[in-house]
Amino acid sequence: MKIVATVALLQLCFSATVSGNGSTETTLTAAPGDIALLPCYTDGTVTPTVTTWIKNGREIITGGGAEPTPAPSGQRFTVLHDGSLNIRLVVPGDEGSYLCNSTLPGNFTFHARVQLQVTSGPEDLSASIGPATALSNGTLIAYKGSTVTFNCSGAAYPSVQLTWAFRGASFSNESLVSTSGSLLKFRMEDIQPSAQGVYSCRAQNTLTHQTLNKSTELLVYYVPDRHPECMWAPAQDPSQFQFDCTWFGAYPTPTLRWGEDEDEGEQGANWKGRVYSTEETDSLSLTLNRSMLSDGQTLRCMVKHLALASGKEKSCSFTLKPPYPEGEPLVTAQEDTSITLICSEAVSIPPANTTWRKGLQQEDIIPGSKYVLSEEGPVLKLTILNISKDDEGVYFCRSENPLAVRELEVYLTVRTSSAYTGAIIGIFIAALIVGSAAIVAKTVYSSRHRICLGGGFGQVEEDRGDVLSLVESDDEQIFQDTVPRLPPITNGCHTTLVQIHRIPSSDHEDAETAETSPEQQEETVQTEEPADLVTF
Ligand SMILES: *[C@@H]1O[C@H](CO)[C@@H](O)[C@H](O)[C@H]1NC(C)=O
Ligand SMILES: *[C@@H]1O[C@H](CO)[C@@H](O)[C@H](O)[C@H]1NC(C)=O
Ligand SMILES: *[C@@H]1O[C@H](CO)[C@@H](O)[C@H](O)[C@H]1NC(C)=O
Ligand SMILES: *[C@@H]1O[C@H](CO)[C@@H](O)[C@H](O)[C@H]1NC(C)=O
Ligand SMILES: *[C@@H]1O[C@H](CO)[C@@H](O)[C@H](O)[C@H]1NC(C)=O
Ligand SMILES: *[C@@H]1O[C@H](CO)[C@@H](O)[C@H](O)[C@H]1NC(C)=O
Ligand SMILES: *[C@@H]1O[C@H](CO)[C@@H](O)[C@H](O)[C@H]1NC(C)=O
Ligand SMILES: *[C@@H]1O[C@H](CO)[C@@H](O)[C@H](O)[C@H]1NC(C)=O
Ligand SMILES: *[C@@H]1O[C@H](CO)[C@@H](O)[C@H](O)[C@H]1NC(C)=O
Ligand SMILES: *[C@@H]1O[C@H](CO)[C@@H](O)[C@H](O)[C@H]1NC(C)=O
Repeated sequence: MKIVATVALLQLCFSATVSGNGSTETTLTAAPGDIALLPCYTDGTVTPTVTTWIKNGREIITGGGAEPTPAPSGQRFTVLHDGSLNIRLVVPGDEGSYLCNSTLPGNFTFHARVQLQVTSGPEDLSASIGPATALSNGTLIAYKGSTVTFNCSGAAYPSVQLTWAFRGASFSNESLVSTSGSLLKFRMEDIQPSAQGVYSCRAQNTLTHQTLNKSTELLVYYVPDRHPECMWAPAQDPSQFQFDCTWFGAYPTPTLRWGEDEDEGEQGANWKGRVYSTEETDSLSLTLNRSMLSDGQTLRCMVKHLALASGKEKSCSFTLKPPYPEGEPLVTAQEDTSITLICSEAVSIPPANTTWRKGLQQEDIIPGSKYVLSEEGPVLKLTILNISKDDEGVYFCRSENPLAVRELEVYLTVRTSSAYTGAIIGIFIAALIVGSAAIVAKTVYSSRHRICLGGGFGQVEEDRGDVLSLVESDDEQIFQDTVPRLPPITNGCHTTLVQIHRIPSSDHEDAETAETSPEQQEETVQTEEPADLVTF
């Protein structure tokens, strides 16, 4: 309470009424510490001889008139000469109904009623919201999903009403919560972006309706659960390549950074690779010259946001890999049939542009009545219809990404009908071979884990030995020797027949012991190492 005396009469809310029996009623408001002067006989020139003041039915002081009682020290009440009551240093509790009883000269009595109200405040208003981070301009930040406590306290005499009000973008509420106590506290659990807005704590004196308020802006920050998305696209300039990073759904706008890992897979707070670009945006593009790209390089997009706890950085990345088309290098087809050449490109990052080409000049293959192109995930198929001897030759499965161009060379052998007849004659020999092949295959199958070399054909590593390609057991295909279409290399080891396509170095015993088909042996074509052309 305010103890400081203000030597002024405050707040004379006069609402005097003259009652029928000659007395008046006055309402007076004073703050603690004030001097209050309660009037009695105001409408005359005569001086009351004696005045008695009665508060709430109890006589408190008598005096005034010709010989006013001197105010004893420490006594807050005095009756002045004209009969009015002087209260020095009003304190809470002085409020009440005061009655003055004055005797006027001529033996008249006069009554007056004074209603004294003691009031103060609202004051000492304090509002706090937490846990929250304060910005330099005083705006607070809370994170979505957290529990936030809103405290407000204030004082007023005789009593205070505290209210939290909210003004937001989507809705407002003048009274979220309210109390007549001096402390108002409420909690908001799992706070949502809709709770962003201005919070005001309002304190109102219940007697005077005077109000005081304190407002704070609260922002609710949030981030999406997912990681940013890394994508790629060819740039307009063919010598360049574009990488895109997007991270939508964060508030406020995050900071995205494109960089390159110094060490493999390194990320997080101690990331210290090369930074290409940093920007406050939810979508950041990076254009790099192809000459700056290399095999095994990891490009990483990291997001920075206040709502992401440090050490919980989110990022996306990719490690660049040159293309590596795989498939059967040798295919035999029967005249007047059709054949499907299969090429699988599954490792290239960014994804390669894979196309089939024909002949040493690598002419484009135009789909039509002769050629049918189809794509199933990473597998690119070329079906050649109505095969003639002209179709014999080399085909290329050309795979290109920003790092490199690599080709799978497929040699197609076309058997004429006469050769086919000859083949029928040799069917018994073939049956014999297949019979023994089955035995060998069985042995091979039981020890497949030792000879399944995985990977595939045309790998560039120098230390690579013979490449064994395991083909699904299909007696018919082998028998007829027309092999309309060889299935692609299987990476699993559930195969029964071993075929050798290439013997770059003959120091591997596996190759010699493995059964080979006679056709394949005689037509073995030394395939070139896949070209490592880097286009610029
Ligand atoms: C006249 O005054 C007396 C004493 O103060 C009070 O009891 C009474 O109600 C008053 N009468 C009217 C009509 O106001
Ligand atoms: C007023 O004072 C007179 C004499 O002092 C007394 O007789 C009278 O009863 C008083 N009236 C009231 C209402 O107290
Ligand atoms: C005033 O009136 C009272 C009774 O109401 C009476 O006793 C008293 O003597 C009177 N005094 C004078 C001076 O008339
Ligand atoms: C709110 O008040 C409570 C005590 O009533 C206190 O424990 C809490 O820390 C306060 N919160 C804030 C945000 O001031
Ligand atoms: C305080 O700063 C934040 C962020 O800079 C801004 O969004 C907000 O509107 C500012 N608040 C005020 C009251 O200026
Ligand atoms: C304001 O909030 C209170 C408490 O949550 C609720 O009872 C009241 O209906 C709301 N008023 C408006 C206008 O939304
Ligand atoms: C708070 O007080 C200011 C003036 O001090 C007033 O303009 C504003 O409307 C008040 N806000 C509320 C919610 O009462
Ligand atoms: C990319 O190459 C062009 C010239 O070909 C050069 O001007 C440019 O600075 C290079 N950009 C980067 C990022 O190295
Ligand atoms: C793939 O390459 C062919 C020619 O080689 C070209 O026409 C085509 O636009 C390329 N596609 C993409 C997606 O780059
Ligand atoms: C197959 O090709 C031959 C010539 O190469 C042509 O005469 C024949 O009509 C073709 N058959 C079909 C079904 O396209």
